[in-house]
Amino acid sequence: MKSINQWQAEEYDHKLAFVSGYGKSLISWLQPQKGERILDLGCGTGDLTHEIAMSQAEVVGMDASPEMIERAREKFPEITFVEGDGHRFEASKPYDAIFSNAALHWMKSPELVVESIWNALKPGGRLVVEFGGKGNVQTIVTALETVLEQKTGIHAADRNPWYFPTIGEYSSLLEEKGFLVRQAYHYDRPTQLQDGEKGIEGWLAHFGGDYFAGLSKDQVEGICLETSKIVVPKLWKEDAVYADYKRLRLVAVKPDQ
Ligand code: BEZ
Repeated sequence: MKSINQWQAEEYDHKLAFVSGYGKSLISWLQPQKGERILDLGCGTGDLTHEIAMSQAEVVGMDASPEMIERAREKFPEITFVEGDGHRFEASKPYDAIFSNAALHWMKSPELVVESIWNALKPGGRLVVEFGGKGNVQTIVTALETVLEQKTGIHAADRNPWYFPTIGEYSSLLEEKGFLVRQAYHYDRPTQLQDGEKGIEGWLAHFGGDYFAGLSKDQVEGICLETSKIVVPKLWKEDAVYADYKRLRLVAVKPDQ
C-alpha cells in the first residue's frame, strides 16, 4: 500500500502539474548551457530538473522530501537526485547556477538558505528563483486561519508554514550576503485549480497539512469545507477557482571578486 506522502508525490504530478508547467518560463531566464553545473533546489518530482538537463547541463535535483526524490528517480533515472534541506546543504563541487521554482516559500529561515546558496555557488555564479511573494494565496490563508481559529481556538497564524516576502525584503537578504540583484519582479499569477468548486478543498488537503496537526479527519474535513465556502465565491471566475498566487521572481549574481 502507498503511504500518504507517496500518494501526494503522484498527485503532485497530476492535479498539481501547473507547478512545473508555470516553472518552464523560469528556465528561459536561467538559460542553462551545455556542461554547466546546475542545482535545482526543491526539485519536487523532477520535471524541471529534466527540462534543464535537456540543455546538456550537468544538473542535480535536490528536495527535502524522500518521497519526491524517490518518484523523481523513478521518472528520470539518468539524472542525479539527492535528498537535502535548503537551509543547510553543502555542494561537493560548486555550481555555476542555482535554480529554484515554487520551493523557497517553504523554507522559513531564509538567512540560512541564502547562506547555503552563496557557499554552493562559484564566484560569478547565478541564482534564478521564483516563489510566493507578499500577499500570495492571501484569500485562502485569511479564510483558513479564521475558520481554524473559530472552530478549534488554535492561534492559526502560529502554524503558517510559508514565507512570502516582498522584493525589498528578499533583495536585502541577498545583498547583505553579497549578491548583486539583477532583476526582481513581483507579479500576480491567478492559478486555475482543478475539480471545480472542490478545488480549494483539494488544495488545502495537499498543502495545508501544517495547519491541521493533531486534528481528527472529521475536523479537518469540516474546516476545509467551511474555508472553501468563504473562498470559492471570492475566487471563482467563469468556470473555475483561480487561486490568488503572487510570484516573486529574482535573478542575482555572486560577484566574481
Ligand atoms: C505557491 O506555489 O505559491 C504555494 C504552494 C503551496 C502552498 C503555498 C503556496
